[in-house]
Amino acid sequence: MSYQNLLVEVKDKIAAVTLNRPNKLNALNAKTIEELDAVFDELNSDEVFVIILTGSGEKAFVAGADISELNKLDTISAKEFAERGQAVFSKIQNFDKPVIAAVNGFALGGGCELALACHIRIASDNAKFGQPEVNLGIIPGYGGTQRLARVINTGRAAEYILTGDMIDAKEAFRIGLVSRVFPQSELMNRAIEMAKKIAGKGQHAVRLALKAINAVNEISLKDGLKLEASLFALCCGTEDFKEGTSAFLEKRKPEFKNK
Ligand code: COA
Repeated sequence: MSYQNLLVEVKDKIAAVTLNRPNKLNALNAKTIEELDAVFDELNSDEVFVIILTGSGEKAFVAGADISELNKLDTISAKEFAERGQAVFSKIQNFDKPVIAAVNGFALGGGCELALACHIRIASDNAKFGQPEVNLGIIPGYGGTQRLARVINTGRAAEYILTGDMIDAKEAFRIGLVSRVFPQSELMNRAIEMAKKIAGKGQHAVRLALKAINAVNEISLKDGLKLEASLFALCCGTEDFKEGTSAFLEKRKPEFKNK
Protein backbone atom coordinates (compact mmCIF):
# COMPACT_ATOMS: atom_id res chain seq x y z
CA MET A 1 0.00 0.00 0.00
CA SER A 2 1.29 3.51 -0.67
CA TYR A 3 0.83 6.46 1.64
CA GLN A 4 0.98 10.22 1.18
CA ASN A 5 2.35 11.10 4.63
CA LEU A 6 4.01 7.89 5.79
CA LEU A 7 7.08 5.98 4.67
CA VAL A 8 6.92 2.28 5.44
CA GLU A 9 9.82 -0.14 5.21
CA VAL A 10 9.69 -3.77 6.32
CA LYS A 11 12.92 -5.74 6.68
CA ASP A 12 13.78 -8.79 8.77
CA LYS A 13 10.35 -8.75 10.47
CA ILE A 14 10.83 -5.14 11.58
CA ALA A 15 8.65 -2.37 10.19
CA ALA A 16 9.90 1.22 10.27
CA VAL A 17 7.06 3.72 9.86
CA THR A 18 8.19 7.31 9.33
CA LEU A 19 5.77 10.21 9.72
CA ASN A 20 6.66 12.20 6.64
CA ARG A 21 5.52 15.83 6.44
CA PRO A 22 8.88 17.44 7.22
CA ASN A 23 7.82 20.90 6.00
CA LYS A 24 5.15 20.91 8.73
CA LEU A 25 7.37 19.19 11.30
CA ASN A 26 5.33 16.01 10.65
CA ALA A 27 2.19 17.59 12.16
CA LEU A 28 -0.75 15.17 12.21
CA ASN A 29 -3.44 16.21 9.76
CA ALA A 30 -6.60 14.15 9.12
CA LYS A 31 -4.93 12.33 6.22
CA THR A 32 -2.01 11.22 8.44
CA ILE A 33 -4.39 9.97 11.13
CA GLU A 34 -6.27 8.01 8.46
CA GLU A 35 -3.00 6.58 7.15
CA LEU A 36 -1.78 5.64 10.65
CA ASP A 37 -5.03 3.73 11.12
CA ALA A 38 -4.53 1.95 7.77
CA VAL A 39 -0.85 1.15 8.29
CA PHE A 40 -1.55 -0.71 11.53
CA ASP A 41 -4.01 -2.89 9.61
CA GLU A 42 -1.35 -3.53 6.99
CA LEU A 43 1.29 -4.35 9.65
CA ASN A 44 -1.00 -6.86 11.31
CA SER A 45 0.72 -9.59 9.30
CA ASP A 46 3.01 -12.55 9.95
CA GLU A 47 5.78 -10.63 8.18
CA VAL A 48 6.06 -8.12 11.02
CA PHE A 49 7.15 -8.76 14.62
CA VAL A 50 8.06 -5.25 15.82
CA ILE A 51 7.18 -1.73 14.64
CA ILE A 52 9.32 1.40 14.98
CA LEU A 53 7.60 4.78 14.65
CA THR A 54 9.74 7.84 13.93
CA GLY A 55 9.60 11.23 12.25
CA SER A 56 11.24 12.37 9.07
CA GLY A 57 14.04 14.94 9.21
CA GLU A 58 16.24 15.84 12.16
CA LYS A 59 13.96 18.33 13.85
CA ALA A 60 10.71 16.65 14.72
CA PHE A 61 9.06 13.38 15.62
CA VAL A 62 5.63 15.04 15.37
CA ALA A 63 5.01 18.70 16.29
CA GLY A 64 1.38 18.07 17.16
CA ALA A 65 -2.00 17.97 15.51
CA ASP A 66 -2.11 20.21 12.46
CA ILE A 67 -3.04 23.61 13.87
CA SER A 68 -4.51 24.79 10.55
CA GLU A 69 -7.09 21.99 10.85
CA LEU A 70 -7.60 22.57 14.59
CA ASN A 71 -8.42 26.19 13.87
CA LYS A 72 -11.56 25.16 11.95
CA LEU A 73 -13.09 22.98 14.68
CA ASP A 74 -16.35 23.72 16.49
CA THR A 75 -17.75 21.88 19.49
CA ILE A 76 -19.41 19.18 17.37
CA SER A 77 -16.54 18.49 14.97
CA ALA A 78 -14.01 18.75 17.84
CA LYS A 79 -15.54 15.79 19.67
CA GLU A 80 -15.39 13.67 16.51
CA PHE A 81 -11.83 14.89 15.92
CA ALA A 82 -10.69 13.87 19.41
CA GLU A 83 -12.50 10.53 19.34
CA ARG A 84 -11.05 9.67 15.92
CA GLY A 85 -7.46 10.37 17.07
CA GLN A 86 -8.03 8.57 20.36
CA ALA A 87 -9.34 5.50 18.54
CA VAL A 88 -6.26 5.32 16.30
CA PHE A 89 -3.87 5.83 19.23
CA SER A 90 -5.72 3.18 21.27
CA LYS A 91 -5.37 0.84 18.30
CA ILE A 92 -1.59 1.39 18.53
CA GLN A 93 -1.53 0.86 22.30
CA ASN A 94 -3.60 -2.32 21.96
CA PHE A 95 -1.67 -3.61 18.95
CA ASP A 96 -0.46 -7.08 19.78
CA LYS A 97 3.07 -6.45 18.48
CA PRO A 98 5.49 -4.10 20.22
CA VAL A 99 5.59 -0.52 18.92
CA ILE A 100 8.73 1.48 19.68
CA ALA A 101 8.58 5.28 19.40
CA ALA A 102 11.99 6.52 18.25
CA VAL A 103 11.49 10.17 19.14
CA ASN A 104 13.93 12.13 17.00
CA GLY A 105 13.00 15.73 17.87
CA PHE A 106 9.87 17.67 18.88
CA ALA A 107 7.09 15.43 20.24
CA LEU A 108 4.50 18.04 21.09
CA GLY A 109 0.76 17.80 21.58
CA GLY A 110 -0.45 14.94 19.38
CA GLY A 111 3.21 13.96 18.88
CA CYS A 112 3.71 13.45 22.61
CA GLU A 113 0.36 11.63 22.73
CA LEU A 114 1.42 9.38 19.85
CA ALA A 115 4.67 8.51 21.65
CA LEU A 116 2.67 7.85 24.85
CA ALA A 117 0.48 5.35 22.97
CA CYS A 118 3.58 3.36 21.95
CA HIS A 119 4.83 0.54 24.19
CA ILE A 120 8.45 1.70 24.39
CA ARG A 121 9.79 5.25 24.02
CA ILE A 122 13.41 6.02 23.23
CA ALA A 123 14.66 9.46 22.24
CA SER A 124 17.47 11.38 20.64
CA ASP A 125 19.33 13.87 22.79
CA ASN A 126 17.66 16.81 20.99
CA ALA A 127 14.11 15.48 21.60
CA LYS A 128 11.60 17.77 23.30
CA PHE A 129 8.30 16.54 24.66
CA GLY A 130 5.32 18.59 25.76
CA GLN A 131 1.59 19.17 25.80
CA PRO A 132 1.44 22.84 24.79
CA GLU A 133 -2.29 22.83 23.99
CA VAL A 134 -3.09 25.42 26.71
CA ASN A 135 -1.13 27.91 24.60
CA LEU A 136 -3.82 27.39 21.93
CA GLY A 137 -6.75 27.64 24.35
CA ILE A 138 -7.45 23.90 24.32
CA ILE A 139 -6.52 20.78 26.28
CA PRO A 140 -4.88 17.61 24.92
CA GLY A 141 -7.48 15.62 22.96
CA TYR A 142 -5.64 12.52 21.75
CA GLY A 143 -5.22 10.96 25.20
CA GLY A 144 -2.56 13.24 26.73
CA THR A 145 -4.37 14.00 29.97
CA GLN A 146 -4.85 10.29 30.59
CA ARG A 147 -1.66 8.68 29.29
CA LEU A 148 0.83 11.31 30.47
CA ALA A 149 -0.62 11.13 33.99
CA ARG A 150 -0.27 7.34 33.91
CA VAL A 151 3.24 7.24 32.44
CA ILE A 152 4.77 9.91 34.70
CA ASN A 153 2.47 10.90 37.58
CA THR A 154 -0.54 13.14 37.99
CA GLY A 155 1.35 16.01 39.68
CA ARG A 156 4.04 16.16 37.01
CA ALA A 157 1.50 15.69 34.22
CA ALA A 158 -0.58 18.55 35.65
CA GLU A 159 2.48 20.79 35.71
CA TYR A 160 3.41 20.09 32.08
CA ILE A 161 -0.17 20.22 30.77
CA LEU A 162 -1.07 23.41 32.67
CA THR A 163 2.14 25.33 31.91
CA GLY A 164 2.64 23.95 28.39
CA ASP A 165 6.37 23.75 29.20
CA MET A 166 8.59 21.50 27.12
CA ILE A 167 10.48 18.55 28.62
CA ASP A 168 13.97 17.99 27.24
CA ALA A 169 15.39 14.51 26.64
CA LYS A 170 17.44 14.47 29.85
CA GLU A 171 14.42 15.37 31.96
CA ALA A 172 12.20 12.96 29.99
CA PHE A 173 14.62 10.18 30.93
CA ARG A 174 14.78 11.30 34.57
CA ILE A 175 10.99 11.23 34.99
CA GLY A 176 10.52 7.94 33.12
CA LEU A 177 8.86 9.36 30.02
CA VAL A 178 11.52 7.65 27.89
CA SER A 179 13.55 4.58 28.73
CA ARG A 180 16.71 5.56 26.82
CA VAL A 181 18.36 8.59 25.22
CA PHE A 182 20.91 8.38 22.39
CA PRO A 183 22.81 10.85 20.21
CA GLN A 184 20.55 11.63 17.27
CA SER A 185 22.88 9.96 14.75
CA GLU A 186 22.55 6.67 16.67
CA LEU A 187 18.83 6.71 17.43
CA MET A 188 17.49 4.70 14.51
CA ASN A 189 20.24 2.07 14.69
CA ARG A 190 19.62 1.66 18.40
CA ALA A 191 15.86 1.35 17.77
CA ILE A 192 16.52 -1.34 15.15
CA GLU A 193 18.92 -3.13 17.52
CA MET A 194 16.22 -3.17 20.22
CA ALA A 195 13.57 -4.31 17.71
CA LYS A 196 15.85 -7.13 16.50
CA LYS A 197 16.44 -8.26 20.07
CA ILE A 198 12.66 -8.48 20.63
CA ALA A 199 12.09 -10.11 17.21
CA GLY A 200 14.55 -12.85 18.22
CA LYS A 201 12.41 -13.98 21.17
CA GLY A 202 9.45 -16.35 21.02
CA GLN A 203 6.70 -14.13 19.65
CA HIS A 204 3.91 -15.79 21.63
CA ALA A 205 5.69 -14.77 24.83
CA VAL A 206 6.32 -11.23 23.51
CA ARG A 207 2.67 -10.72 22.58
CA LEU A 208 1.23 -12.24 25.73
CA ALA A 209 3.61 -10.16 27.89
CA LEU A 210 2.42 -7.05 26.05
CA LYS A 211 -1.21 -8.04 26.64
CA ALA A 212 -0.57 -8.39 30.36
CA ILE A 213 1.34 -5.09 30.56
CA ASN A 214 -1.39 -3.26 28.62
CA ALA A 215 -3.99 -4.46 31.11
CA VAL A 216 -2.31 -2.45 33.90
CA ASN A 217 -4.35 0.66 33.19
CA GLU A 218 -7.62 -1.15 32.68
CA ILE A 219 -8.04 -3.58 35.57
CA SER A 220 -7.32 -4.03 39.28
CA LEU A 221 -4.11 -5.65 40.56
CA LYS A 222 -6.15 -8.70 41.60
CA ASP A 223 -7.60 -9.14 38.11
CA GLY A 224 -4.23 -8.31 36.53
CA LEU A 225 -2.59 -11.11 38.49
CA LYS A 226 -5.34 -13.52 37.40
CA LEU A 227 -4.79 -12.47 33.79
CA GLU A 228 -1.02 -12.90 34.17
CA ALA A 229 -1.47 -16.45 35.50
CA SER A 230 -3.76 -17.36 32.56
CA LEU A 231 -1.37 -15.89 29.99
CA PHE A 232 1.60 -17.58 31.69
CA ALA A 233 -0.30 -20.88 31.39
CA LEU A 234 -0.96 -20.21 27.70
CA CYS A 235 2.79 -19.72 27.14
CA CYS A 236 3.47 -23.10 28.73
CA GLY A 237 1.33 -24.76 26.05
CA THR A 238 3.56 -23.52 23.22
CA GLU A 239 6.43 -25.22 21.40
CA ASP A 240 8.49 -22.09 22.10
CA PHE A 241 8.24 -22.78 25.83
CA LYS A 242 9.58 -26.32 25.37
CA GLU A 243 12.33 -25.01 23.09
CA GLY A 244 13.31 -22.10 25.39
CA THR A 245 13.51 -24.18 28.55
CA SER A 246 15.15 -27.18 26.84
CA ALA A 247 17.75 -24.96 25.18
CA PHE A 248 18.70 -23.50 28.56
CA LEU A 249 19.09 -26.96 30.09
CA GLU A 250 21.07 -28.20 27.07
CA LYS A 251 23.31 -25.07 27.22
CA ARG A 252 22.48 -23.94 23.66
CA LYS A 253 20.74 -20.97 22.05
CA PRO A 254 16.98 -21.42 21.59
CA GLU A 255 15.53 -21.57 18.10
CA PHE A 256 12.04 -20.23 18.47
CA LYS A 257 9.53 -21.16 15.77
CA ASN A 258 6.76 -18.97 17.18
CA LYS A 259 4.52 -21.98 17.59
N1 COA B 1 0.54 22.29 12.94
C1 COA B 1 0.71 22.82 11.73
N2 COA B 1 1.86 23.31 11.28
C2 COA B 1 2.92 23.21 12.11
C3 COA B 1 2.84 22.65 13.39
C4 COA B 1 1.58 22.17 13.80
N3 COA B 1 1.38 21.60 14.99
N4 COA B 1 4.05 22.73 13.98
C5 COA B 1 4.86 23.28 13.09
N5 COA B 1 4.19 23.59 11.96
C6 COA B 1 4.70 24.21 10.74
C7 COA B 1 4.93 25.70 10.92
O1 COA B 1 3.74 26.42 10.74
C8 COA B 1 5.93 25.95 9.83
O2 COA B 1 5.25 25.98 8.59
P1 COA B 1 5.56 27.13 7.49
O3 COA B 1 7.03 26.96 7.18
O4 COA B 1 4.67 26.78 6.35
O5 COA B 1 5.27 28.42 8.16
C9 COA B 1 6.78 24.68 9.83
O6 COA B 1 5.99 23.70 10.45
C10 COA B 1 8.07 24.83 10.63
O7 COA B 1 7.74 25.26 11.94
P2 COA B 1 8.36 26.54 12.66
O8 COA B 1 7.40 27.01 13.70
O9 COA B 1 8.80 27.53 11.63
O10 COA B 1 9.65 25.89 13.33
P3 COA B 1 10.43 26.43 14.62
O11 COA B 1 11.69 25.67 14.68
O12 COA B 1 10.50 27.91 14.63
O13 COA B 1 9.50 26.00 15.88
C11 COA B 1 8.10 24.49 17.12
C12 COA B 1 9.29 24.62 16.14
C13 COA B 1 7.79 23.00 17.26
C14 COA B 1 8.49 25.05 18.50
C15 COA B 1 6.89 25.27 16.56
O14 COA B 1 6.67 24.86 15.21
C16 COA B 1 5.61 25.03 17.32
O15 COA B 1 5.42 25.56 18.39
N6 COA B 1 4.70 24.22 16.73
C17 COA B 1 3.40 23.98 17.30
C18 COA B 1 3.49 23.03 18.48
C19 COA B 1 2.13 22.81 19.10
O16 COA B 1 1.51 23.70 19.66
N7 COA B 1 1.66 21.58 18.99
C20 COA B 1 0.43 21.18 19.61
C21 COA B 1 -0.68 21.26 18.66
S1 COA B 1 -2.14 20.66 19.46
